[in-house]
Amino acid sequence: MASGAGSNFESLVRACRLGHLAASVELLVVNRADCGARGRAERLGVPNELLDHHFHPTRENLDRALITAFKGKAVDLVVMAGWMRIVTPVLIEAFPQRLLNIHPSLLPSFRGLDAVGQALAAGVCLSGCTAHLVAAEVDSGQILVQAAVPVLAGDNRTSLAARIQVQEHRILPLAVALAAARLESSGIEGQQR
Ligand code: GRF
Repeated sequence: MASGAGSNFESLVRACRLGHLAASVELLVVNRADCGARGRAERLGVPNELLDHHFHPTRENLDRALITAFKGKAVDLVVMAGWMRIVTPVLIEAFPQRLLNIHPSLLPSFRGLDAVGQALAAGVCLSGCTAHLVAAEVDSGQILVQAAVPVLAGDNRTSLAARIQVQEHRILPLAVALAAARLESSGIEGQQR
C-alpha cells in the first residue's frame, strides 16, 4: 500500500528479487493515480491497483475495498509503505499480525504527520525509523525493527528524511521476514488462505 514516491515499495520488490527476502510482492495498491509508487510498479512489472479514497465515502469503505483486493491475491502479509490514510479496525482485523507499517521516527516518539519535522523541532540528536505491526491507534502497535539515525548540525527535513529513508529501505524487508517468521512459529502461517 503506497501513496507517495514508493521507494519503500521498491525496496521490498528488490529485496525479494535479490533473494534477500523469501517472498514476492503480489500487488501494489495506491490511492493516488499520479503517485510515484505506481510508476515504479509499472517499471518493475508488479500488478497494481488504484483505490482512490475520493470514491469511498468512509474509511471503512476504503478498507473493505483493500481487503477485497488483497484477498483476491491470497496475500499473506500487507505492508503500508507510505500509505497516507488512516486505516480502521476493518482492515486491521482482516489481517491480524499481518499488517505492517513503516514510520520515520523512533516510535513511540513523534507519531502522526511530519514525524521528521517533529523530531527537528524537538531538537533530538537521534531519530530513525520504525517498522511495526498496525494497531487501531495511529503509529502504535508492536515494534518489529527500528534503526537509529543521527540528527546532524544543519539538518533540515529533506536531509534528515533522506538519511532516515536509507534505513527504512534496510529495515522494512527485515520486518517482513520477522513478521512471517513469527506467524510460522505460532503455527498460523497461511491461515488466511
Ligand atoms: C516514508 O518515509 C515512510 O516512513 C512514511 O512515508 C514515507 C514513504 O516514502 N510513512 P516512499 O513513498 O516509500 O518513498
